[in-house]
Formats: sequence, C-alpha cells, structure tokens
Amino acid sequence: MQVIDAVKLQRNIIVYAVLAMAVVGLGVALAAIIPLHRQMVRSADQALEHGLDLQVAALRETVDRMGDMARQVTSRSVIRDALSSYNQGAMSLDKLQAFTADKLGDSMKLSRDMLGILRVGRDYRPLVSVGASVPPALWSPEAGEPPALGAPTLIDGRWVLLVSAPILGRDGTREGHDLLLFDAQGLRAIVADVETLGRTGEIILGRLAASGAQVFFPRRDGSAGGDDEVAEAFSRAAIDPEPLYLTRPGAVPDVVLSQRLPGSDWIVMVRQDLAELHSNIDQLVLSVAAGALVLVGFGMVGFVLILRPLTGRMLVHTGDLKRQIKDGERAQAALERALEGTIEAVASTIEVRDPYTAGHQRRVAEIAVAIGRQLGLPAETLKGLRVAGTIHDIGKIGIPAEMLTRPGRLSALEFDIIRNHSADGCEILNGVDFPWPIADMVRHHHERMDGSGYPDGLKGDEILFEARILAVADVVEAIASDRPYRAALGLDAAMREIIAHSGTLFDAAVVDACRVLAAEGRLPLGDRPSLQ
Ligand SMILES: [Fe+2]
Repeated sequence: MQVIDAVKLQRNIIVYAVLAMAVVGLGVALAAIIPLHRQMVRSADQALEHGLDLQVAALRETVDRMGDMARQVTSRSVIRDALSSYNQGAMSLDKLQAFTADKLGDSMKLSRDMLGILRVGRDYRPLVSVGASVPPALWSPEAGEPPALGAPTLIDGRWVLLVSAPILGRDGTREGHDLLLFDAQGLRAIVADVETLGRTGEIILGRLAASGAQVFFPRRDGSAGGDDEVAEAFSRAAIDPEPLYLTRPGAVPDVVLSQRLPGSDWIVMVRQDLAELHSNIDQLVLSVAAGALVLVGFGMVGFVLILRPLTGRMLVHTGDLKRQIKDGERAQAALERALEGTIEAVASTIEVRDPYTAGHQRRVAEIAVAIGRQLGLPAETLKGLRVAGTIHDIGKIGIPAEMLTRPGRLSALEFDIIRNHSADGCEILNGVDFPWPIADMVRHHHERMDGSGYPDGLKGDEILFEARILAVADVVEAIASDRPYRAALGLDAAMREIIAHSGTLFDAAVVDACRVLAAEGRLPLGDRPSLQ
C-alpha cells in the first residue's frame, strides 16, 4: 500500500488554499474597486458640471440685476413723461435736464456698482448724464441703438460694463434709451474664482463674435484671446444649451464644459486638465487597492496560521496510519512465516514415516511454483500453489507406515487404501481457513484431464487449474526420483511420460510450460544423485 507523503500533502494544501484565497481576495477587491473608480470619475465630472452651474447662476444673477436696474430706471413714469413732453416739444432741454438729473441721481443709489447713467433721446443724442460718463469706447451716438448688454471692458484700469434699456412712453413708443455704466469687478471676481478648479482649471467668459471667440477677461495665464478649444466650445455652446463635454486629442487631455448664459449671447466655459480632475480619484483608488492587498496578505498569513495546526494534526494522524500499516505488514509477514513453518512441520511428520517420499512434497511444491510462474500466474496464486504442493500428500498420514515404506508391488486393497490419500488430505484440510482453495487442490492432484483420475473422476476444466499443475509436478518428481518399488527413472523419462499424455491425462499448457523449464534446465529438481 502506498502511504501518502503527509508533509508534501500539508504543503500542497496550504499553498493551494493560500493561492485560492489570494485569487478570491484580489477578485473581490477588483470587483469593488473598478465600480468605485467609475463612480468616482462620474462624481468628479458631475462636480465640475455642478461648479459650472453655480458660476453660470452667479453670473446670471449679476447680469439680470443690472438689466432689472436699467428697466427700473426707464420705467420711472415722472421722468419718462418729462422725456415724452420734451420729445413732443412741450418741454425745453434745460428744463428736462434740470428735472431729470436729480431723479436719475436717486436711481444711482440702486447699486453701489452703478457708476453712471446716460439718458439719450430718440436719435440717441445724449440728453442727461449723471455720475461717470459713458466712455466712447463702449458706445457713441454714431453707433445707434446701444446694446442691451455690452461686453466687460477695461477702461482706465477699471472693468466696466454698459447695460441699456429703451424708454417706452405710455403709448408704447420709444422715447429714448437709458445707458447704465456698471463696475464689472463683481463679474470679474466670479470668473476669477477658480479655487475649486485646482492648478489647471479655469473659467472663461466671452461670446462668439464674427471674428471668433471673444474672451472678456484675461485668461488665467494672462492671455486675452481664445484658442481653438475655446472657439470650438463657444460655437457648440452657442447652438446647444446643454453643458458640453469636450476632450481633445493632444498633449493635455482636457475636460471642457460650456454653457450659454440664458438671456444673453455670453458663454461660460469651464476647463480642467483631465489628469488633475481625476488625480485624487487615482490616489484614493490606489490606497483602497493597497488596503485590499494588505487585507489579503493578512488573510493569507491567518490562513497559514489556521491551516498549519489543522494539517499538522493530519500529519500526526497519517503518521499513526503509516505506523499501523507497517505494524500490520509486519504482523502479516510473521503470520505467513508461522504458516509456512506449520506447513513444513506438517509435511515433515508424513515424510518422517515415509523416507522414500522424503522431500517429495517440497520438490513438488518447487516444481509447481516454477511451472505456475512460467505460466504467468499472480504471486498470490503461487503462494497457494506452494502451500498445496508442500502438503499435497498429507492424506497419507492415515496409511500404515510399513505399507508406505515396504518395497515391492502393492496388493489391490493396499492400492485402494493409498488412493484414498487425496480425499483424506482434503478432509484434514477442509477445516483450515486458508486464503486459497488448498483442500480442493489436494483432493484433485490425482485427477486426469480425460476423467481417468481419482477420487472424483473430474474432467478438463472441472479440475482446478492449480490441481492440474500439481498433477504434472507430482508425476515429474515421482518418475525422476526413487520409489519404494523402483529406482529413479530420470528427468527424460518423466518428460517423455507427461509429453506422451499431454492433453489426455495432463493439461497441455501445463506440460508445455514444464517442457520449456526442463529444456532450459530451470526445473527445480533438487540435488539428489538419482537425478541427472
Ligand atoms: Fe499423491
């Protein structure tokens, strides 16, 4: 029996268990990290989008407030009616100016950011001006109708913005325009507020002019103009009100969001280097992955700590098993030796009484085993064959010793008594629980293939194969050695006898095997001088 190498088994169990744990652990970690990474990227993009929304809302509120103030100024009915009177020629310019200037001056209190108001007539000729005057760079009467919302412009070191609204009379006709000059520093502050956008992010405010993207305030890097990316984002935002994601192939992959400021042609754009936008995520995911690896590592160590004592117990157990098997094998070997000794002893008791057949059984056993081996029988069968051969004549124990040892011919009665020895031997051995059919082999060692043998007159396959081998070995040994009634006839005579009756008295295959052994000088006949 093959005993498992327990130490190797223990090592394999631990190695495979730890590997499986590592694979499962890493699999679980990856399964958790990949969706986490995706979710975080989405969140970062959404945060940028949300940031843009906030900027747009802040800018819109500022711009809307300016528009509201302009409409508030134009809708003040007292001074509006005065303008109507002037337009109808019912009021002089001096009177209009004297009447209107104070009221417009009051309106200046609507906002600290309001720098000045210019009221112009139907022909855009300036009529009344309070506070700072409108710089010609922003608007002049020749330009005609002023823009409702101008562009932030740097004039004398100050960012200013012009907002205008028409003055409508009671009948809805246009009586003139109010031009409000605002300090645009608030707008600039909103655009310059890029703290949340990291090192690379910037907010760009501008509009799409005929010549391309017009950027209102200096960019974060100090440049004033828009590049191709800005132009593309502006032109797309001009037609698509939805926030736009734009990643351009190039040295710096950017994520760009742009959105049109509602109620204007202004466009707000947010851009950030994609790597920077996602850099925190990568670091976080890396640290989570490192944590997972550490956990898996601890798990593996823990696994080893648990498995070692467990498999150690298995080692002890298999060690015991090994010892038990060895003990069992030793006990079996001892039993086999005892059996052999007993068999030999039993065989000797017959041979002591019958010196002529002394050694006969042992030699028959040797020859039978040699034939069996030549026929390729298994080792276990050969063991049985040896035992049966050694005691095949045990039945002779009941025959009077003088009958066995007396030289000369036997009477018919004596012959009958001697013929009984195979059946008697079977009787003796029947009660012994051998692992082989020893009793049957002994009973039938005088049976012949044609049914002429005794005691049962069995034929061919009815006879146990081992008994057929014993029959040939018995005859060969008997002829080749001295008998009480004659001298040894020799191996050649023995071989002639069995070959002559091959297939009739003796099994042809057994005879053939015996012939091969004899021809090759491998027949174990012992060292008696009677044999050549
Ligand atoms: Fe016999």
